[in-house]
Amino acid sequence: MDIIELSGLTKKFGPLVAVDSVSLKIREGEIFGLLGPNGAGKTTAISMLVTMKKPTSGSACVNGFDIVKEPDGVRRSIGIVFQDPSLDEELTAYENLELHAAMYGIERKDRRDRILEVVRIVELEDRINDIVKTFSGGMRRRLEIARGLLHYPKILFLDEPTIGLDPQTRKHVWDYIKTLKVEHGITIVMTTHYMEEADSLCDRVAIIDNGKIIALDTPDALKDSLGGDIIIVRTPEPRKIEEAVKGIARKTKIDDGSISLSVAQADKKILKIMDIARERKIEVQAISMHKPTLDDVFLHYTGRNIREEAVSGKDAMRIRHNAWAGGRR
Ligand SMILES: Nc1ncnc2c1ncn2[C@@H]1O[C@H](COP(=O)(O)OP(=O)(O)OP(=O)(O)O)[C@@H](O)[C@H]1O
Ligand SMILES: [Mg+2]
Repeated sequence: MDIIELSGLTKKFGPLVAVDSVSLKIREGEIFGLLGPNGAGKTTAISMLVTMKKPTSGSACVNGFDIVKEPDGVRRSIGIVFQDPSLDEELTAYENLELHAAMYGIERKDRRDRILEVVRIVELEDRINDIVKTFSGGMRRRLEIARGLLHYPKILFLDEPTIGLDPQTRKHVWDYIKTLKVEHGITIVMTTHYMEEADSLCDRVAIIDNGKIIALDTPDALKDSLGGDIIIVRTPEPRKIEEAVKGIARKTKIDDGSISLSVAQADKKILKIMDIARERKIEVQAISMHKPTLDDVFLHYTGRNIREEAVSGKDAMRIRHNAWAGGRR
């Protein structure tokens, strides 16, 4: 069953189309990922779904409620973990959760039990009376997830759940997210620009670029769609390589000083390509092979590399910090 449905959902900021007529359906109980570089429109899309921004056009339903006409119904159905930290550092973990419980109208007599229940899920019971200022980044993120669960949402929205965390802590947070799905049946909608995160966590992924969905499927199907392993040849003459490997490569993509080739049985083909390059006197600076990743999928559809985008999107980073300002509940 579909629990979220977007139909032509669009958000413009002046001339900029941040979310460009996005239509998709999210199934109950799945972990659905929006993957894309800085500025792709992920936070904007989520903020419309959680009723913090009004769409310019198009529509969406969350748990059967229209995001514009029935925002209260939507809000009752969802929990949110923001991209930017939003805990009160001077309060204890317990106090942060209590404040939120009160804001969400959870009755006083139920609050303590609920709070203890959610901190148990993220294993923060023994830190519950400590001031948040003394928490590590990973602990803060877990506390924010706990807070998003306080009112038993059917759907949890996580905007960049592991941004800025070290790889080990990131894996811990992934485990908690999986637990929410498997043991608590919560539908998870998350954004990320980490490909590994989308790959290992999400049941289905929509790759988003410049506000548009460019591919949507399970991570495996997206990678399989490239047609085999990837060989990357670093060369000043990528066009000559492209010409030379006709008949060997199923697909080719030239990317600034290198060419990537989709092939079956890359270990054998790599030797063949070396031979051809030598015969034709094409300069090869380096050659490598790997199983396809979601990064290759992104490259395939956009001609750009998501990693480089993620590092260089300074403007998006700057504006992102203002994006939620004044909108928090
Ligand atoms: N309030 C705003 N006013 C004007 N432009 C905005 C606003 N919020 C976002 N944008 C622009 O909309 C585009 C999408 O931004 P958004 O924050 O949704 O991207 P994102 O995919 O979440 O990026 P990131 O990975 O950096 O979080 C960007 O070009 C951004 O600069
Ligand atoms: Mg964002």
